[in-house]
Amino acid sequence: MSQPSIQLIRGFKDILPGETELWQHIERTAIDLFEDFGYREIRIPIMEKTNLFARSIGEDTDIVEKEMYTFTDRGKDLLTLRPEATASICRSYIQHKMYAQDPVRKFYTIGPMFRRERPQKGRYRQFYQIDAEIFGVAAPFADVELILLLRTLFERLEVTDTTAHVNSLGCPVCRPRFKEALTGLLDAAAPVLCSDCLRRKDRNPMRVLDCKVPGCREAMQGAPSIIDYLCDDCRAHFATVTDTLAQLGVPFEVDKQLVRGLDYYTRTAFEIQTGALGAQSAVAGGGRYDGLVGSLGGPEIPAIGFAIGFDRLAEIVAATSPVAVRPPQLFIAALGETARAKAFQWATTLGTAGIGIAMEYGEKSLKAQMKQANRQGAGQVLIVGESELQAGNAVLRNMADKTQVEIPIEGIVEKLIQTFA
Ligand code: HAM
Repeated sequence: MSQPSIQLIRGFKDILPGETELWQHIERTAIDLFEDFGYREIRIPIMEKTNLFARSIGEDTDIVEKEMYTFTDRGKDLLTLRPEATASICRSYIQHKMYAQDPVRKFYTIGPMFRRERPQKGRYRQFYQIDAEIFGVAAPFADVELILLLRTLFERLEVTDTTAHVNSLGCPVCRPRFKEALTGLLDAAAPVLCSDCLRRKDRNPMRVLDCKVPGCREAMQGAPSIIDYLCDDCRAHFATVTDTLAQLGVPFEVDKQLVRGLDYYTRTAFEIQTGALGAQSAVAGGGRYDGLVGSLGGPEIPAIGFAIGFDRLAEIVAATSPVAVRPPQLFIAALGETARAKAFQWATTLGTAGIGIAMEYGEKSLKAQMKQANRQGAGQVLIVGESELQAGNAVLRNMADKTQVEIPIEGIVEKLIQTFA
């Protein structure tokens, strides 16, 4: 008896031909834009030591507490599939002492991330991010540049239904005063807080602002906003960010309620939100993390970045502007074994010369092969059978206007290369 077929893991998905063309289009558009602005690609491992994520994203976050794919390997090392890219890029920046020659570095990376969240539309356990980071720039220009890049990328992809939400999360100077104000409210709300928030409220009160449990959200409705507690430096920084965005004509909303689900942020935090995705409204998120490089054992170097949810972006782009599959330029319809062997030689030579080529490898009627060429959207079909071989001429049929010409088999490959190149 045959075995039941194996299905993929819940929350994981295949990206199939038909979708991958769109993913490649998005990827190329992003890479072109990043490289114009001087970002260089970095590729970091899929797995890291668990404490890299625990120390950077924060022990009290949902990601670290509940969502990481963590296991002990055969050498007893505690490892985690990366839930995001920022921590790994910092680790790499520090480990390779990239700051020594020039602390200012701009990176991008694109790849899969892993979080064991409850799967639903737009939320997966393996998902992809398009990530960009700037190291070594304290000036608010970096903040503005990243928000502008997001806007430009979305415009180029014809994604219009988005809003940039920006907020400031302050710094170690202004946070203690804010935490104090928040703690008062949390103590009063303690009876209605979920068990996670009760535990977090003394250790990391700002995390309660990020809780998704309805009771906690309701209790936090009147919560103070850190933006009202900013120190002078943070306030000036935020004012320059918003003023410059306005000067450049980048639309945004100051969103006092915006908190991010990761602990490393300082000062500017932002999200690109959209109505196009139902419950999952954030298609990108990011912010400054000026203390992270230092806290991971590197020098005190400011940094800022963002990550786009690639799956979410692809879903939006697919709904508005589907990308066409590249059809073959030429389909070779061969009839009979001798003609097929010749056709295969021609096809490989043409393909190697950079011409989009397809053929039928088995014995099929001309009618079936013409149908196949049509289905694949081939521009032209070259027909060759025993009689064409004997006569020394093959037939080239234009699929759009249905005209046919004969071309001599002698020197046919050179002729076709000239025609299609
Ligand atoms: P994040 O907000 O956790 O930030 O994730 C960024 C984006 O990834 C989200 O806005 C969302 O579009 C997408 N995303 C997150 N989780 C899932 C999921 N389970 N399924 C599908 N898409 C998802 C970060 O990851 C930070 N590292 C961003 C950053 C870079 N901050 C500074 N530099």
